Amino acid sequence: MSGTESSATIDTLTPVLTDNWGSERSWTLAAYEAQGGYGALKNALAMAPDDVIAAVKDSGLRGRGGAGFPTGMKWSFIPQDNPKPKYLVVNADESEPGTCKDIPLMMATPHTLVEGVIISSYAIRANTAFIYIRGEVLHVIRRVQAAVAEAYAAGHLGKDIHGSGFDLDLVVHAGAGAYICGEETALLEGLEGRRGQPRLRPPFPAVAGLYASPTVINNVESIASVPSILEHGAEWFSSMGTEKSKGYGIFSLSGHVTRPGQYEAPLGITLRELIDLAGGVREGHSLKFWTPGGSSTPLLTADHLDVPLDFEGVGAVGSMLGTRALQIFDETTCVVRAVLRWTEFYKHESCGKCTPCREGTWWLVQTLAALEKGQGAEADLDLLVDQCDNILGRSFCALGDGATSPISSSIAHFRDEYLAHLQHGGCPFDPAASTTFATAGATA
Ligand SMILES: Cc1cc2nc3c(=O)[nH]c(=O)nc-3n(C[C@H](O)[C@H](O)[C@H](O)COP(=O)(O)O)c2cc1C
Ligand code: SF4
Repeated sequence: MSGTESSATIDTLTPVLTDNWGSERSWTLAAYEAQGGYGALKNALAMAPDDVIAAVKDSGLRGRGGAGFPTGMKWSFIPQDNPKPKYLVVNADESEPGTCKDIPLMMATPHTLVEGVIISSYAIRANTAFIYIRGEVLHVIRRVQAAVAEAYAAGHLGKDIHGSGFDLDLVVHAGAGAYICGEETALLEGLEGRRGQPRLRPPFPAVAGLYASPTVINNVESIASVPSILEHGAEWFSSMGTEKSKGYGIFSLSGHVTRPGQYEAPLGITLRELIDLAGGVREGHSLKFWTPGGSSTPLLTADHLDVPLDFEGVGAVGSMLGTRALQIFDETTCVVRAVLRWTEFYKHESCGKCTPCREGTWWLVQTLAALEKGQGAEADLDLLVDQCDNILGRSFCALGDGATSPISSSIAHFRDEYLAHLQHGGCPFDPAASTTFATAGATA
């Protein structure tokens, strides 16, 4: 975070994961250890693995990858009486439009993630762990690889870590750049060398995951939060946030705000507070719509500025907290065009395994593209809703469901703007259009 916020607003922030991002060469082992890094690992190795799981359970940490499943509970599902090896897989695919927290975290403080991997692997009794990073971000892959090499050299990884008798190998795996490989079972397929497509469940990965062995898959931020819990205690973590959404999280503000960036704050903070911290919506403009957690979470408007950004609060207004990727759009944005762009993304990224998503996302693009050009009739809006209804809940994985979210929510909030495209015979935001619709859809 940068700028000249008052101390009142700065107090709202809780920098834990982002605390060392501004330090000199924060990504090196020396810088990390100078700030107490790997201290939590020593605490964890002095505990029984089940006590580490209990601490994470007690903290109330819920998965930061979108769905919010309780992390400690996920770990406790690993059947310890299963003689097969156990695996920890970190999901660092981060490809959802708008989501941009894991990549900066791995660039700025890869050792926080590596320390989290070691503690988490110790807890679930895994001797091999993987970090699966999106293939396009070569600079991030290199940075994490360098951190892993440093951790091996310092004895934090490898055989008999710090005399504990615990062995751990950590493999950094580069994906091939497909959004679907962020879906946890498609990711496992990719890791095993196959085409990334989701697997049928059950069996769930905790029972039969990587190489048909018990596997925990967690998001980067979930695993990176673990050292802080072992360092400061479960109670400290759960003292932040709200009743059912504990702790802090990284909120990524992008788009039409004065200071876009990563703002780490307790869950339950509101968009109004975050926009305040970000210096407001860009000067002379007002908020029109936003995504609470990436493009697959239903759009919200200025009516939702005071919704607590926790799993329950965002759910109560018909959306999802998702990855806290807050994309802010002001009144100059055509919502139909924005939604069309996202839908083209989902069509491109559909893995093709199931018909509703493979065929449906193609049809969504056709219908939306025509509407955006002002072609068709009002009945095409109902057709679009019908197409969404045939995808939502009928697709094999959540990619199909997510593809419908921006469409259904934008029609619910901005039906008039769709109709205006038909009335104008084109996009009313286009400077060439005879009249402009620039502020008609704005709600603040
Ligand atoms: C299409 C799709 C893409 C996803 N991409 C990611 C991703 O990039 N990173 C991530 O952590 N979770 C992603 N998820 C969610 C994962 O399937 C899974 O829920 C998550 O990694 C679990 O980690 P957590 O419990 O720590 O949140 C995606 C899900 C879907 C359906
Ligand atoms: S919903 Fe889409 S991405 Fe998921 S399995 Fe079906 S075709 Fe593949």
